[in-house]
Amino acid sequence: MVRENERGLAVEDIVKEYETPAGPHRVLDGLSMTAQPGEAVAILGPSGSGKSTLLNIIGSLDRPTSGRVRLGDTAVTDLDGTGLASYRANEVGFIFQDHHLLPQLTAIENVMLPSLAAEDDGKGEDRARELLGRVGVADRADAFPARLSGGERQRVAAARALINGARLLLCDEPTGNLDRDTGRNLVTMLRDLSEDGVIVLMVTHNHEQATLLDRGLLLREGRLVPWKGAGEDRTPA
Ligand SMILES: Nc1ncnc2c1ncn2[C@@H]1O[C@H](COP(=O)(O)OP(=O)(O)OP(=O)(O)O)[C@@H](O)[C@H]1O
Ligand SMILES: [Mg+2]
Repeated sequence: MVRENERGLAVEDIVKEYETPAGPHRVLDGLSMTAQPGEAVAILGPSGSGKSTLLNIIGSLDRPTSGRVRLGDTAVTDLDGTGLASYRANEVGFIFQDHHLLPQLTAIENVMLPSLAAEDDGKGEDRARELLGRVGVADRADAFPARLSGGERQRVAAARALINGARLLLCDEPTGNLDRDTGRNLVTMLRDLSEDGVIVLMVTHNHEQATLLDRGLLLREGRLVPWKGAGEDRTPA
């Protein structure tokens, strides 16, 4: 039994099998982890080891074969219907390798978009502007994605992921398309967000970036073990 404080993330004994013509393929094999508000955690591991599968299960985009995910008092893996919709809309945010911004909307309009579906309190634009400031692109609010740099686009994507108050930010190789300096700056920004109380989980193949976060976990043979540094993960940085 994993114990942690009431607002943390607890992933308990996750098994994930995919059905294949050759029989079930077990990707996650009794995986457990916890993370607390204020923590930014890197997840490393070879290609195909199950990193995206894990983020998708934590983010409720996929269901585990067995095991539980809890975020604070939300039993994520038990949710369905409106509870599931509310978790996806309000509690968790994703950033991917690709920014997925809508090209016909400005930066601030992209950030506001998820808030339009939520109850309108008339403060969406103020919140979006504040978030753009927090991620360091306040001055780019009215630019269209085509006019933003790769790093700026990912910052806008992060702001969009947080507009409805998410307390967990799941980042699947967010720096995969960025050059070294831009990637490092983005990771530093993610760490700063975590210091404001958001739990950040970031999948990366980049050792230098992993060391910028609070700790690293290595996904190997379906489970997570503490990552001790570059020698352990044979994927090139
Ligand atoms: N829908 C699916 N059906 C069957 N197998 C799948 C499915 N999705 C993923 N897999 C398999 O599960 C394993 C883990 O995939 P996953 O995408 O989680 O790996 P990853 O660690 O994110 O890899 P990468 O670093 O390349 O992104 C792989 O063997 C993959 O082929
Ligand atoms: Mg992946």
